[in-house]
Amino acid sequence: MMDSMIVHSAAGALVEITDVRKSYFSNRVETPVLHGINVTMQRGDFVAVMGQSGSGKSTLMNILGCLDTPTSGAYRLAGVDVGAQSRAELATLRNRTIGFVFQSFNLLKRMSVLDNVALPLIYAGVSRSASRSRAQTQLDKVGLGELASRQPNQLSGGQQQRVAIARALVVDPPLILADEPTGNLDTRTSNDIMALLNELNRERGQSIILVTHEPDIAAHAKRLVRLKDGLVLYDGPAAEGLRQLRTDDNTASASEVSQ
Ligand SMILES: Nc1ncnc2c1ncn2[C@@H]1O[C@H](COP(=O)(O)OP(=O)(O)O)[C@@H](O)[C@H]1O
Ligand SMILES: [Mg+2]
Repeated sequence: MMDSMIVHSAAGALVEITDVRKSYFSNRVETPVLHGINVTMQRGDFVAVMGQSGSGKSTLMNILGCLDTPTSGAYRLAGVDVGAQSRAELATLRNRTIGFVFQSFNLLKRMSVLDNVALPLIYAGVSRSASRSRAQTQLDKVGLGELASRQPNQLSGGQQQRVAIARALVVDPPLILADEPTGNLDTRTSNDIMALLNELNRERGQSIILVTHEPDIAAHAKRLVRLKDGLVLYDGPAAEGLRQLRTDDNTASASEVSQ
């Protein structure tokens, strides 16, 4: 059995993926998507992942989230060899270690905001009353304490994403995975959500991996990982990576013009 002390211990990398390859198979035809990815992430990192559509961002996020397994290569999460876990152990590891934030919020429509946020605690075996009280505290922290009894469809998009973030945080996982979390939000609301993620990263040391196609959003991260055709094209400080991205884009559009 896994001890939660392991998950929260400060020693070692939080995420360590080594030569991860992923192919999809249909009718025995192999489509390779990830061609050997190496990424190490320490606790407290804030990483933006960018890359053109089809470059493998979601495939990588699914592997990082223990929702899919690599075809080959190794993944250690909080010191645990993910490939060696049983299905049940993996579910426990995922529940304790990772909070997910999706582009489409994924809130349950028929439940109150409070019960949506309490759900991961219920799954983790916490009593209903304790779950609700911790959910309320978490909602207060994202500034939505007074809207706890509403249904998700009675909130704006930005408020719904705050609820989703509260839900992702309620078990206090060391890692937040967010796939295009601002993809359905306007610029101002996106900036509010990024400010909230920044605050969590700074004040609580929560590690964040965030997929985005917008340089302005990626600029909130400390580090940028750029994927191209299933390989890491850049991995380093976000500011330098975004400068390179601008140069690459200018070169690409200049060559289009000259064709
Ligand atoms: N379940 C799947 N079966 C087959 N091919 C897939 C599957 N999921 C993704 N792909 C393919 O893998 C490639 C990478 O997809 P994805 O990881 O979703 O890229 P991104 O998120 O960067 O747009 C694409 O060519 C896509 O068509
Ligand atoms: Mg994607």
